[in-house]
Amino acid sequence: AYEKLWLVAAMLLIVGFIATITYGSVALGITMVGDQQDTVEPTELADDDRFDDPRVEQVGENEYEAYVVAQTFSFQPNPIEVPEDSDVTFYVTSRDVIHSFSLVGTNVNTMVIPGEVAEMTVEFDDPAEYGVVCNEYCGPGHHDMEGEVHVV
Ligand code: CUA
Repeated sequence: AYEKLWLVAAMLLIVGFIATITYGSVALGITMVGDQQDTVEPTELADDDRFDDPRVEQVGENEYEAYVVAQTFSFQPNPIEVPEDSDVTFYVTSRDVIHSFSLVGTNVNTMVIPGEVAEMTVEFDDPAEYGVVCNEYCGPGHHDMEGEVHVV
């Protein structure tokens, strides 16, 4: 009987988390798209060559994919340039230690774990420049670990 109670408690907690994250609205004319907004799911990075050449790729009319590598103490590519009115799926990985990929002033924020790929899709409506920072302490250059996203 107690097991069932714990299960219910855990479920409530999860629902609470999702509600909290969903409620946090995004400022500055950008929107997290789809289910990813509450589940930044890292996937296995086994023999993944997508990150050999960090880049932004156009994959549809208004759709882009950004392959981003975080490494002490920078993000590549930098700046990341995408056009306005576009959906951008970020795939972010680390080559060394745990970093984060966080767009300043928005709720776009994911932990970046070596060997794993964080994925999230963001809709950029208007031209803007966003700072990218690392929120996980990663060494002496942590505070200088910055990048930029340019929506043009
Ligand atoms: Cu990378 Cu802190």
